[in-house]
Amino acid sequence: MKKSVMAIFFGLAFVLLFSSQAATAGKNGITLIYTGNLDGELEPCGCSLEGDFGGIRRQATMIDRLRKEKPGLFLISSGGFMRSESVHDRLTGEYILKGVKTLNYDAIGVQWADLAYGTDFITHDTLPWVASNWSGATFQTERNITRNGRTLAFFSWIDPRESPLQQMGGSHTMTAPGSDGEALAQALQHAKQSGTLTVLATTLTPDDARRLLPLQQVDILLIRSAYEKYSEPKKVDNTLVLQPGSRGMRLGRLDIALDSAGAIQSWKHKIIPLPKTTPDAPRLKAWYKQYNTQVEADYQKSVKITKAQQAGESPYAGAQACQSCHGEQHKIWHASRHAHAYGTLRRVNKAFDPNCIVCHTVGFNKPGGFIDDDTTGNLSNVQCESCHGPAQAHAASSGVKPVGNADWPREKMCAQCHTPAHSPSFNVDTYWPKIKHPREALR
Ligand code: HEC
Ligand code: HEC
Ligand code: HEC
Ligand code: HEC
Repeated sequence: MKKSVMAIFFGLAFVLLFSSQAATAGKNGITLIYTGNLDGELEPCGCSLEGDFGGIRRQATMIDRLRKEKPGLFLISSGGFMRSESVHDRLTGEYILKGVKTLNYDAIGVQWADLAYGTDFITHDTLPWVASNWSGATFQTERNITRNGRTLAFFSWIDPRESPLQQMGGSHTMTAPGSDGEALAQALQHAKQSGTLTVLATTLTPDDARRLLPLQQVDILLIRSAYEKYSEPKKVDNTLVLQPGSRGMRLGRLDIALDSAGAIQSWKHKIIPLPKTTPDAPRLKAWYKQYNTQVEADYQKSVKITKAQQAGESPYAGAQACQSCHGEQHKIWHASRHAHAYGTLRRVNKAFDPNCIVCHTVGFNKPGGFIDDDTTGNLSNVQCESCHGPAQAHAASSGVKPVGNADWPREKMCAQCHTPAHSPSFNVDTYWPKIKHPREALR
C-alpha cells in the first residue's frame, strides 16, 4: 500500500518536473510566432515553384491554425512590410496594411522601408507599431502584452545612421529618431526587473547590435531579415538571437521554457513554410478581390494617361522642347539645382511619395503632368513649366501663344514651392539672382 502511494507520488513528481522542463509547458512556457520582412509582397507571384511561398492569405490560415492549437501565443514582427520601388507599391502597401491588420499582431517593429510614404500612411490603420528610439508620440516606444500570466515586452530600434532624412539638411522639418540608447536601456532594465520577457527588434547586424545596443537586458533579439530563409536561433551571451526570413514566405515558431526568474531555460525552434498547399484564408477573400479591382483600375488609369501623353495631348512639353528656341535659358536652368530636384528625392528614398513629388517635378496631380519617371520622364525635376505654366501650345505655335502663367509675377511662381516649411530662408531677392535668365542675356 505505502509503496504504491510512494510510486504514485514519485511518478507525479517526475511528470511535473519533466513537463516544467519541456519547452511547451503551460505556465512556464511561451510560444512565440515571429515574422520578418514582407518587402511589399502581398502575395507570391507563383512564377516558380521554389518562389511560391507565403503571402498574407496563407499567413492568415496558418496563424489561425496556430492560435487554435496555442491560444496564448504571441505574434510579433520585426517590420519591413513596405516597399517603394515602383508606383504601384503605394497601393499594394495600403492593402498590405489592411491585410496585416487582420492577423492581429501583438507588436511590429518600424523599419525605414515602412516609412517611405510618411508616418501617417502606416499609422492610419492603428497597427501595433513600435519604435523605441523615435522622438515624439508617433509610435509607441514599448509594448507590453500579458497572456496566461506571462508578460512580453517588445522594443524596436530604428538605426538613425540609415535615415534617408539624415541627408535632407535643414530644409524640411521632420521628426527623426535619436541615436541615444539611454532611454531604451532604462526601459529594458525596468521590464527585466519585473520578470518580463524582453524582445528587441532591429535591422542592425548582430555585431553592430552588440556594439550599439544594451543587450544585457534583452532575452530575444530579432535581427535584420535574411534573404527568404530563416536562420536557426543562436545564443549570444544571455540573448537568443533570431533571424527571420524575408518576403513573408515563412513563419518562425519558438517554444520557450522559462525558469522562475523569467530567464530562458530551453527552447524549441521550427520554421513553418507556407507553400501552395496552405489554403488562402476565406476571411480575406473580399479584401483580395478589392485589391485586384483597385490594381486594375490604377493600371487602366495610367494606360489612359500614357496614351494621351503619347498622342501629344499633354499641355506640358518638357524642357527639352524649349531648348531649340531658348538655348541660353535652358543652359542656365540645366546648371541649377531645379534640374536635379527629382534625383534629390531618389537620394532620400522618396521618389514615390506624392507628398514630395508635387514640388520636385512638373505638373504632378494636374492633367498631363508628371506621373512617374518611366511614363513621364520628360517632366521630372523642377523645369521651365513648373514656373511658366504649361507651354506645349506656346512651343507648338513658335512662341505666338503665351505660356500658361504669362501674367504671373515672380513671387507667385516661387511661392508654389518655396513655402516657409520647405524653404525657410527663401527670399526672392536673394534666390532669383541664382537662377535668373532674363530675355536680354539670352540672344
Ligand atoms: C519654336 C520656338 C519656341 C519654342 C520651342 C519655345 N518658345 Fe518660348 N518663346 C518663343 C518666342 C519667339 C518668344 C517671344 C515671344 C514674344 O516676345 O512675344 C518666346 C517667349 C517665351 C517666354 C516669355 C514670354 C511669355 O510668353 O511669357 C517664355 C516664358 C517662354 N517663351 C517659355 C517657353 C517654354 C517654357 C518653352 C518650352 C516648353 C518654350 N518657350 C518654347 C519661341 C519659342
Ligand atoms: C511645398 C513644396 C515642397 C514639398 C511638398 C517638398 N519639398 Fe523638398 N524642397 C522644396 C524646396 C523649395 C526646396 C529648396 C529649399 C531651399 O533650398 O531653400 C527643397 C529641397 C529639398 C531637399 C534638398 C535639401 C538640401 O538642403 O539639400 C530635399 C532632400 C528635399 N527637398 C526632400 C523632400 C522630401 C523628402 C519631401 C517629402 C517628404 C519634400 N522634399 C517635399 C520644396 C518642397
Ligand atoms: C524657377 C522658376 C523658373 C524656371 C524653372 C524657369 N523660369 Fe524662365 N523665368 C522665370 C522668371 C521668374 C522669369 C523672369 C520674369 C521677370 O523678369 O520677372 C523668367 C524669364 C524667362 C524668359 C524671359 C521672359 C522675359 O520676358 O524676359 C524666358 C524666355 C524664359 N524664362 C524661359 C524659360 C525656359 C525655356 C526655362 C526652362 C529651360 C525656364 N524659363 C525656366 C522663372 C523660371
Ligand atoms: C515646382 C516647385 C518649385 C518652384 C515653382 C520653384 N522652386 Fe526653387 N526649388 C525647388 C526645389 C525642389 C529646390 C531644391 C532642388 C534640389 O536641391 O534638389 C529648389 C531650389 C531652388 C534654389 C537653390 C537654392 C540654393 O540655395 O542653391 C533656388 C535659388 C531657387 N530654388 C529659386 C527659385 C525661385 C527664384 C523661384 C521662383 C521664380 C523658384 N525657385 C520656384 C522647387 C521649386
